[in-house]
Amino acid sequence: MNLLGYFILLSASSLLGFIECGRDFYKILGVPKNANANQIKKAYRKLAKELHPDKHPDDELAHEKFQDLGAAYEVLSDKEKRSTYDRHGEEGVHKMGGGGGGHDPFSSFFGDFFGGGHQERDDQTPRGADVVVDLFVTLEEAYNGHFVEVKRRKAVYKQTSGTRQCNCRHEMRTEQMGMGRFQMYQIKVCDDCPNVKLVQETRTLEVEVEVGAYDGHEQVFTGEGEPHIEGEPGDLKFRMRIHKHSRFERKGDDLYTNVTISLQDALNGFEMDIEHLDGHKVHIVRDKVVTWPGARLRKKDEGMPSITDNNQRGLLYITFDVDFPRTELTSEQKAAVMELLKQDSVKPKVYNGLQGF
Ligand SMILES: *[C@@H]1O[C@H](CO)[C@@H](O)[C@H](O)[C@H]1NC(C)=O
Repeated sequence: MNLLGYFILLSASSLLGFIECGRDFYKILGVPKNANANQIKKAYRKLAKELHPDKHPDDELAHEKFQDLGAAYEVLSDKEKRSTYDRHGEEGVHKMGGGGGGHDPFSSFFGDFFGGGHQERDDQTPRGADVVVDLFVTLEEAYNGHFVEVKRRKAVYKQTSGTRQCNCRHEMRTEQMGMGRFQMYQIKVCDDCPNVKLVQETRTLEVEVEVGAYDGHEQVFTGEGEPHIEGEPGDLKFRMRIHKHSRFERKGDDLYTNVTISLQDALNGFEMDIEHLDGHKVHIVRDKVVTWPGARLRKKDEGMPSITDNNQRGLLYITFDVDFPRTELTSEQKAAVMELLKQDSVKPKVYNGLQGF
């Protein structure tokens, strides 16, 4: 190869290197430059689910995208790295120290990514116990989705000096005792395994409160439960506990709320806004019919998002209560009401309001 060819090759590879060093992490995550931490986590979680190599075993491009995604998240989820990146690009982050990579940000999220996709477990392998932890969240958090950082101190087995007996089992041995005499006996055989000791390790886990999470829903961190000396650790499960809400009650994916209106509004009609769990307003207009106590409105797609398909939403039921004025009417006002309502023929009815009678 002549010198010129060598030079071109060199500059081509350095150009390639430059492109590789200048990935647009915001574009990779599909978030705006001013995205907050929660938006970044959400975007990462969503894309990581889509692009996870387990889903595309033979797709090189998907693997590459998954790695770009991991790199993007690692930088943008770290305040310091993010500000360096904003000023000096990916190269700046690399210079900051530690060539990047190595640490898998994916591992801090729960492992149970693929719905019911618990890895096949070998029943023969002993397992440590599962640990279940209640995680209290608000209805707002379940409606909008949320991430809770949980610091977990856990005991893990670490290798130490020396050996210990392990995998012990019984084996039969046969020994020749002399002419025509054998003896069979059982002995205990063990392997030598490296010695282990329990050490405390602190890890930060990102527990996702999924959009539409319901009371009792579990987020599973595979292998983060109690350790087992000869087998695998159990799982760590976060069980969602949804706080009671002051304005909404949830049944399945439907929401219920109560509204008290004045007698005047009940008779003449009204317009109002109900503030929803993400702050958007649900507009209500009642102008055609009188609103009686117990009247109920149904609003489509204003319930909770379904956890399995966030685009599907339940109903919002609004039940009205009428606040009657506690005043006394003059005889002229009474006459005016009679003139207005013309209900002279309607007599009070005595009945048992309980169902089943
Ligand atoms: C609405 O009022 C009914 C009757 O008082 C009550 O049972 C229900 O819990 C209330 N719902 C909400 C969301 O306040």
